[in-house]
Amino acid sequence: MKALIASAGRGTRLRPITHTRNKHLIPIANKPMLHYAIEATTSAGIKDIAVVVNADSDEVLEAIGDGSRWGAKITYIPQAVPGGLAQVVALAEPFIGKDKFIFYLGDNMVVGGLRRYIDEFESSDCNCYLTLARVKDPGRFGVPEIKNGRIVSVEEKPKNPKSSYAVSGMYLYDSHIFEAVKAIKPSRRGELEISDAHQYLIDKGYRIGYAEITGWWKDTGKPSDLLEANRLVLDNVTPDMNGDADTQSVIAGRVVVGRGTKIVKSVIRGPAMIGENCVIEDSFIGPFSSIGNNTLIKKSEVEYSIILRDCKVVNVGIRLEGSILGNDVEIVEAAGKPRVHRFMIGDQSRVEVA
Ligand code: G1P
Repeated sequence: MKALIASAGRGTRLRPITHTRNKHLIPIANKPMLHYAIEATTSAGIKDIAVVVNADSDEVLEAIGDGSRWGAKITYIPQAVPGGLAQVVALAEPFIGKDKFIFYLGDNMVVGGLRRYIDEFESSDCNCYLTLARVKDPGRFGVPEIKNGRIVSVEEKPKNPKSSYAVSGMYLYDSHIFEAVKAIKPSRRGELEISDAHQYLIDKGYRIGYAEITGWWKDTGKPSDLLEANRLVLDNVTPDMNGDADTQSVIAGRVVVGRGTKIVKSVIRGPAMIGENCVIEDSFIGPFSSIGNNTLIKKSEVEYSIILRDCKVVNVGIRLEGSILGNDVEIVEAAGKPRVHRFMIGDQSRVEVA
């Protein structure tokens, strides 16, 4: 069994954060999303992993390395232009050969591990095994139609979904998938859709099995998904205090604080994660907040937010909530009179003011 992890693409729905960073490297609970994919794969016992990356960038390679820190061997496969997930699979044929494999989308997060699905696939005679999750908005995903316990069709982002399931980004295949990805044609959005490859397998009479994901699963396609994934991961953290808090501070609930961080006259209410060398002063950090390294929060309040490294949030009179700040972002009180909001915001940013 091998693994193929998709980490290419432009992440356009997550701009501006993805202007400067591959979407799969956005931290969730202060750890790049892609690390969760590699951890899920290696802890299911798969160590031979290929990661498909944008051909014009080394950032994934730099963030992941050769995989030795997970006891894995990682092979990088460049993708020149984003051509769809079925193209990602096609690119991996020389790496996969005749082996069975899991195809894991690096922007999917799942709790509860992959072993159960791998075991079910390996002990079945299925050529393809899909994992399904019940969702409120199936039209955003690949959607299966199920009749008498069998998947009879799969449609990509249908206007009229035929079930309330999404096909999640963890697929198990044998090498017949290569026949499918080579046979299909690009969709209206110009991509080789993985759902069309599944439909091809169904049409050709190959066996498709499926399981419903019982724990949680998240596709981090939209900013609100990032916040939700962050919430779900923080919900499972173990408290770990490596910084210093003064006697006037209150730290309640599950809170992780990195080395060199100082908490002064502040309330931290977990679950929350604060990175290394931060200063939190005269502030409130509320549940489901992640704060990256070297960030200063002073006389401000933050809740249910993701703040990356080297940020400054100082004297902000109203609580930041449901917010995502990239690296090196400053939100500070405007000096002088009159009292104003003063913005310097890059392309495709979004600010909501009260
Ligand atoms: C992709 C697949 C879709 C699947 C989803 C799961 O969609 O095309 O079939 O349901 O991943 O995350 P995308 O995230 O590329 O829109």
